[in-house]
Amino acid sequence: MAETQLDVKGAQGAPATATLVDNTTGKSVTMPIIEGSEGPKVIDIRKLYGETKMFTFDPGFTSTASCESGLTFIDGDVGMLLHGGYSIDELADKSDFMEVCYLLLYGELPTRTQKADFVHAITYHSMLQEQLRSFYSGFRRDAHPMAIMVGVVGALSAFYHDSTDIRDEHQRMVASRRLIAKMPTIAAWAYKYSIGQPFIYPNNKMGYAENFLHMMFATPCEDYVVHPVLSRAMDKIFILHADHEQNASTSTVRLAGSSHANPFACIAAGIACLWGPAHGGANEAVLKMLEEIGDVSHVDQYVKRAKDKDDPFRLMGFGHRVYKNYDPRATVMRQTCHEVLDHLGIKDEPLLKLAMALEKIALEDEYFIEKKLYPNVDFYSGIILRAMGFPNTMFTVIFALARTVGWISQWKEMIEDPIQKIGRPRQLYVGEPRRGYVPLDDRG
Ligand code: CMC
Repeated sequence: MAETQLDVKGAQGAPATATLVDNTTGKSVTMPIIEGSEGPKVIDIRKLYGETKMFTFDPGFTSTASCESGLTFIDGDVGMLLHGGYSIDELADKSDFMEVCYLLLYGELPTRTQKADFVHAITYHSMLQEQLRSFYSGFRRDAHPMAIMVGVVGALSAFYHDSTDIRDEHQRMVASRRLIAKMPTIAAWAYKYSIGQPFIYPNNKMGYAENFLHMMFATPCEDYVVHPVLSRAMDKIFILHADHEQNASTSTVRLAGSSHANPFACIAAGIACLWGPAHGGANEAVLKMLEEIGDVSHVDQYVKRAKDKDDPFRLMGFGHRVYKNYDPRATVMRQTCHEVLDHLGIKDEPLLKLAMALEKIALEDEYFIEKKLYPNVDFYSGIILRAMGFPNTMFTVIFALARTVGWISQWKEMIEDPIQKIGRPRQLYVGEPRRGYVPLDDRG
C-alpha cells in the first residue's frame, strides 16, 4: 500500500493548513483548514483530486462535511442540538412548531406580525388540489402510509411543476410553504384511506398540530374536540423532529435537489430514505421490538442478543451516528411521554415500563457504555403516539411530516448557496480491470 502522511499546521496566527505528502512520489498538496462558528474544523479537500489524482474514501460519510449550513448544529459529544443557535429543549419548552418552521426557513425567530402572517399563509395552503384525492384510491387499502406519502408527495410535483421556478426566491418560498402546509393533510388522509373512513378537510380555525389531530381522528358524524394537552404534545413532537442537519434523508433531498429537480419530487426522495429502520423507521421498529420482548423478565435476553456480533438484532431506538451522549430530543420525548400518559390516565402502561427497564439495563451495560449507545429520539416517541391513538405505521409518517420543514429549508439553503454544485461522489473501483469481450460460444 502506498503511504501518505497528513501534517496539520496552524501555529501563531498563520492560516491553518493540512499538507498531504505522498511518500511514494514525494508529491505534496497543502489544503486550507476552514473553521465554522461551532464544531470541528474541516480540511478543504476540493483541490485534492486536481493536484494529486487521488480521491478520499469515506463510505457512510463519517468524516466528510458535504456542505456549509447555517441551520442546525449538533454537538454529539455533549448531546446538544441547536436550531439557529437556540437549543432544542428551550424551543420545545417555550416555542411552537410554526415558530421553529419560520426560524429554519428565515434564520430568525419571527416578530409577532411575521408570525401571524406566516401562520396565516400555512393555514391557507393546507387544502389539497381536489384531484389529488383520486391518487389515494390507486393504493391498496393495506398499503403502508409511508408508501402513500412517497407517491402523493411525488405527485405534487405534477401539480406545481410549471409554477415552481427554483431560480425565483419567491417561488422557492411558496413551494416551501405549500409543502409544510399540505403535509398534515396528506398524512392524515393516508391514515383515513387505510381504515376506510372519509377524508376530513383541514379547518382554518385550528392550529397546525390541532388540525392534524382533527383530520386524523374526527369523522363527519360527530363532534371531535382536540384536547390542548394532546395538541401541545403533538406540536412538541413536531419541533423535536423538525431538522437534524445532514442526516441520510436530508442529504438525499440535497443530492436530489442538486440536479435542480422539482422540490416536491426531492422531498418524496427524502421520505423514501427516512422510511428505513436505521433512520426514521426506527420509531415503528421500537414498538415492534418492545412487543416482541413482551415482558421485563425477557430484557436481559434481548440485551444479550444486541451485544452478540453473530446476531443481526440491534436495540432499536439506541445509538446514533452523531450523538455519543444522551440524544437531547429523547430527554424531552421521555418527559412528554409521561405528560401524555398522565393526561390520558394511562397508569402502568406495560410498554412504557418495559421501555424504562430496557433503558436502565442498557445504560448500565458495559457494551452500551463503551460504544456510547444512548436512547435516541425514536425510543419514546412510539409510546406517546400509540397512547394518542396512532397506529404503528403512522409513526414514521409523523416524523416525515415534521421533518419536511428541515428538508425544504436545507434544499433552499443549497439552491441559494453559490458554491454548491451537482452532487457527484466518486468511488474506489474494485471490479475487473479492462478486458476483451468474450463471444458467447467461447465462454465454456
Ligand atoms: N444495538 C446494538 N449495538 C449497536 C446499536 C444498537 N442499537 N447501534 C450501534 N451498535 C454497535 C454496532 O454493532 C457497532 O459495533 P462494533 O463497533 O463492535 O461493530 C457500533 O455500535 C457502532 O455502530 P455503527 O452501526 O457502526 O454506527 P452507525 O453510526 O453507522 O449507526 C445507527 C448508527 C443509528 C444506524 C445505529 O446505532 C442503529 O442501527 N441503531 C438502531 C436504529 C435506530 O434507533 N435508528 C434511529 C436513529 S435516530 C433517528 C434518526 O436519525 O432517524
